[in-house]
Order: sequence, then C-alpha cells, then structure tokens
Amino acid sequence: MTTASSQRDLIVFGATSFVGKILARHLFEQFGAHGDLKWAAAGRSLARLEELRASLGPQAARLPLFVADAGDEAALRQMCLGTRAVVSTVGPYALYGEPLVKVCAETGTDYCDLTGEAQWIRRMLNRHEETASKSGARIVHCCGFDSMPSDLGVLFLQRESVRRFGQPCQRVKMRVKALRGGVSGGTVASIMNIVREAAADPQLRRELANPYSLCPEGYAPPVRQPYVRSAEYDGDFQAWVAPFIMSGINTRIVHRTNALTGQAYGGGFRYDEAMLAGRGLRGRMTALGITAGLAGFMVAGAIGPARRALEHFVLPAPGSGPSPEAQQQGFYDLRFLGHTDDACSIMVRVTGDRDAGYGSTAKMLAQAATFLALDLPKADKPGGFWTPATLFGDRLIERLEKHSGIAFTVLDGGS
Ligand SMILES: NC(=O)c1ccc[n+]([C@@H]2O[C@H](COP(=O)([O-])OP(=O)(O)OC[C@H]3O[C@@H](n4cnc5c(N)ncnc54)[C@H](OP(=O)(O)O)[C@@H]3O)[C@@H](O)[C@H]2O)c1
Repeated sequence: MTTASSQRDLIVFGATSFVGKILARHLFEQFGAHGDLKWAAAGRSLARLEELRASLGPQAARLPLFVADAGDEAALRQMCLGTRAVVSTVGPYALYGEPLVKVCAETGTDYCDLTGEAQWIRRMLNRHEETASKSGARIVHCCGFDSMPSDLGVLFLQRESVRRFGQPCQRVKMRVKALRGGVSGGTVASIMNIVREAAADPQLRRELANPYSLCPEGYAPPVRQPYVRSAEYDGDFQAWVAPFIMSGINTRIVHRTNALTGQAYGGGFRYDEAMLAGRGLRGRMTALGITAGLAGFMVAGAIGPARRALEHFVLPAPGSGPSPEAQQQGFYDLRFLGHTDDACSIMVRVTGDRDAGYGSTAKMLAQAATFLALDLPKADKPGGFWTPATLFGDRLIERLEKHSGIAFTVLDGGS
C-alpha cells in the first residue's frame, strides 16, 4: 500500500529503548528488513541504532536508520515526511513526547505510542487535536498494557452483551486475577514524573481525579463513578480487592471510548478496576498490604529526597527491565464482569502470554503500529485523537488473538 508520496510505511522512534528493541525484533521477525512493511528504526544515537541493527543479524544490514532528537522539530519533520505512520517509545512522554505529536498532527502522519500519562494526553488533546483533524493524522495513545486490554476487553464484553441481551452493560468491573512480570526503568520514570508533577500542581491533581478527564470538553454524565481506593470486599467476586495502579489511565481511556462512540456503553455507564487479593483473612491482609505499598510509593515519589533515593537505590534505571526469561514466564489474566440494568450479567476474560509491561506490550504495539501503517485507509477513519477501541475495534482483537498471544474469552453470562 505504499504510494509514491510515502516511501516508508512505519518509523519506530525510540527503537533503542527497552521496549523499542523488543518491538524492533518483532517487526523484523514478521516482516524482515525489506518485506511487506517498509520500516525504519529511529532514535537519538546513531551508534546505538547501529548496535540494535547488528543485534538483529546480517539480514538486517540494510534496515534504514534515522537519527533525530526528540526535541529537534526540524529533524522530526524530516523523519515524518514521506512516512505513513510513526510509533514512539520515547518516554517519559510528558518530558520528550510533544514535538513529535505536534509534527505528526501538522504533517498528517499517523502516530501511536505507549504513554499512560493522562495529564500529558490531555495537554496533547488541547493543543493538537484540531490540527490533527484538519491534516488527517490519526493519533492513538495507550497502545500497550495500558490501556489496550481494558479498552478492548470492555468493547468485547459490550459486543457480547448487546448480542445476548440486546443492550450494553451499564456497570462493568475489571479485576486483575493474575499479573506476573517486572517493570522497566522507563515505566518507573514515567510514573515518578506524574507523581512529581501532581505533587507540585493542585489543578493537575483535580484533573487527574476526574474520571472524564480525557473525554471531549464539556462531557460530564451525571453519574458517580466507582473507585477502589483502599482494601475492600467485592461481593461479586467474593474476594478482597485492592487499588490497581493502572486504573487511573485505563478508566479514562474506556470513558473516552464511550464518549467518542456517542455513549455506546450507555449514558449511565460505570466502570472501575482493581486487583483481586484473595479470600478470607489472608485476602484481606494482602489487599491491605498492596494498598499500603502503593500509598507509600506515591508519598515517597512526591517528596524530592525520598524520590531520588528510590530512583538511585531501589527502582530499575531507564533502559533496563525484566530479563527475556522473566518476560517469557510472565502472564496476566483480567476478568471483566458486566451487569445490565435488567440484571443480566456476563463475564469475559482477557489473558496475555508474556509479562504485561514488555513482552506483551511490545506485541500489542506492533499490531497497532502495523495496522495503522498498512491497513487503515484515511478514508475509513478521519484525523483526530482516537482510542485503541474506537480506531481499531474488533479487527484489532482478531489480530491480537492471531499474532500477540492475547485471548478474549466469554466465560459465562445469563440473567
Ligand atoms: N503502556 C504500557 O503498558 C507501557 C509499557 C512499557 C513502557 N511504557 C512506556 O514506554 C516508554 C519507554 O519505556 P522503556 O522502558 O522502553 O524506556 P527506556 O528504555 O528508558 O527508553 C527511553 C527511550 O527514550 C529515548 N530518549 C530519551 N531522550 C531522548 C531524546 N531527547 N531524543 C530521542 N530519544 C530520547 C532513549 O534513547 P537512547 O536509547 O538513545 O537512550 C530511549 O530509547 C516509557 O515512557 C514507559 O513509561 C509503557
């Protein structure tokens, strides 16, 4: 599908990041260096890009490389011209990401990334949505573990609910049943940056507390959204639950999907996410432990010296992350329980066969990026800021099941 005006289908910007290297290997294994996907690896250091290319083997010798600093708009523009889509893993996005989003919006280049930084997405919407709508650039954030499984899991559940009951579920709960895998320095740096920004800015704290913060301006259904903020007992799952660190971004993306689809999930749609901690006293203690650990992490992250000590002595440094074995042994199992207004219920499961943050995230991102670059004609979807569910929909679910080790399963449903 490459036309005369686009010499490249896809650029991987940040190909030398921890997750970028895994993504580059996936693309190389699926398409080679000069296959059906015409792609290039980009980053700020030619030496590191050459090292990455060499690590892919001799067949990759002619993979094009492109050097650009995240702050160099002229170089980014040069990179985008003649390119159909860009996938970026250069983060924290709130620190480095805006110039590329701006250039993509201006040049009509499609863009996807892995950010989970709600405050930064809001800024990008405010500043670049109108330009992207005019230029035809399709911008889609959150194409990793946050927030694809949540966004597509709810879409999958609602499709099944409408098929079975003739209506969507007004109340959906996502519960993390299992999650095994490590974190990388890049993710830690992004979380620390949100905590640091929020600690310094009361207006941002208010914005982050708004479940509709990523919905179009003025969208405010008169519904109080549920929110698991400490250890509590969940009667539906007959287990104790604890707060889930990714719920802050995932719930915002799911509500944006509902808003962009004209409330396909209903005007009174309510959604929350939490971690299942188990039953009985042990479950309760585990839920309390998770809650206390999370609160301690947030408090330490907000205090300068404590944050620096954490970054230096406890947390992984940027560029590092879980070993290939840990990625291989990692997995996740998410349960979505939906109830309709007529008391019909349905449960679906989303599982991944690698650690959530890296092995599985890189496979999801590869599918989003190649979908954008090869299979989404501009006539099908106009420019603007989308969510994974609204831009890719069911077709991405099929592709994730086929190529990414992710399974979407209906467990039960009745009335
Ligand atoms: N949504 C999810 O589920 C999910 C999962 C994993 C990661 N993430 C996010 O994805 C991002 C990448 O994570 P990671 O662990 O792979 O991070 P990482 O290894 O620390 O990589 C950061 C990348 O940014 C590049 N970079 C930094 N400053 C730059 C600049 N001025 N110009 C150009 N490139 C620059 C670095 O280049 P060099 O290689 O040259 O140093 C590196 O490639 C993070 O923001 C993380 O939060 C999200």
